[in-house]
Amino acid sequence: MKQLKALILAAATLVMAQAYAATDVQAEKIRERIAPAGEVCVGAECGGLAVVAGEPRTGEEVYNTACTACHGVGILGAPKNGDTAAWDDRLAKGMDATLKNALSGINAMPPMGNCATCSDDEILNAIKYMSGR
Ligand code: HEC
Repeated sequence: MKQLKALILAAATLVMAQAYAATDVQAEKIRERIAPAGEVCVGAECGGLAVVAGEPRTGEEVYNTACTACHGVGILGAPKNGDTAAWDDRLAKGMDATLKNALSGINAMPPMGNCATCSDDEILNAIKYMSGR
């Protein structure tokens, strides 16, 4: 009887140890999943002009990194990428005025589309890309 109890206890301990091991692995997986995809650094802090230097990124590049989250599916009324009719409405007031709204933000559209590393030219490129101009 005593032996049986010890056996049951040992088995239970094993099962529990495995459960802990599993949660450790899961926790690690979760940490990997929620880890930031990249780090943004500007200027001397990251050893140079990393993000700011060089040619302006293309509209497609900027769109894919900074605009697609909202303009891909049209969140909160954002004109969708490639929806030329929606973009024609927006651009009826002129590219300059539209760009200005994108730079300073309008309603649910955050200033610069939240792209801290984008130049004005890169925002313009992204607008041209999304509107097919
Ligand atoms: C957090 C969501 C979000 C992100 C990210 C975002 N936008 Fe928008 N954007 C919106 C919404 C919502 C609107 C519609 C605003 C309105 O008119 O009510 C909008 C509208 C616009 C307009 C039209 C402005 C006008 O004058 O009608 C432009 C241009 C634009 N976005 C450019 C961009 C660019 C370029 C990026 C990426 C660099 C970007 N947006 C990223 C949500 C977003």
